[in-house]
Amino acid sequence: MTQDQLKRAVAEAALAYVEKDEVLGVGTGSTANFFIDALASIKQHIPAAVASSKATAERLQKLGIEVVDLNSVDNISVYVDGADEVNPYLHMVKGGGGALTREKIVAAVAKKFVCIADASKQVPVLGQFPLPIEVIPMARSYVARELVKLGGTPVYRQGFVTDNGNVILDTYHLSIVNPVALELTLNQIVGVVTNGLFAQRGADVLLIGSSDGVKTYL
Ligand code: A5P
Repeated sequence: MTQDQLKRAVAEAALAYVEKDEVLGVGTGSTANFFIDALASIKQHIPAAVASSKATAERLQKLGIEVVDLNSVDNISVYVDGADEVNPYLHMVKGGGGALTREKIVAAVAKKFVCIADASKQVPVLGQFPLPIEVIPMARSYVARELVKLGGTPVYRQGFVTDNGNVILDTYHLSIVNPVALELTLNQIVGVVTNGLFAQRGADVLLIGSSDGVKTYL
């Protein structure tokens, strides 16, 4: 199977986790896009969705699913999103698409996080994928220096501005042996809006698309 076929299969498997008549949280990226496309078959059961990016909001609206502001809902039953890397503890690196801040906010509100990914995203230890860190533009150089002190090699994502008007430092060579601790440490750097470690709030369910079928990890 191609990687896209694996992504489609895992996205379709995630439909089983969508709760009828509940507000749904929807992530960003190519795997999340397959999930949005799959929602067409059950959209009559989705009263509204909260989107983690402008791109996802547009795709949902094209399908005829109402997109609501997070501030107008009390809770989200399930959040479905992809990941750039996921470890055996269901900690993730996210933000390759630059939507990490809104993704982390929607994930924090959701009762259940269902991560959907093809098998290439499974790793024993996070960190091969450069960790995206969203930064207030004026703090870019300062935050980069602080990341170097932590052993990282930050690379400014040139020409990219997040939905929140900020910039991204893709950070190589960080030792991510303790993702929960590193997530907290990075959050302490003044000027960091969000880092792409989703460890304090990892996934509750991981669905992996592989050539043997879709596997579920809890
Ligand atoms: C978006 O900012 C990211 O967190 C994506 O969810 C992640 O990069 C996975 O994207 P793909 O499904 O395109 O690999």
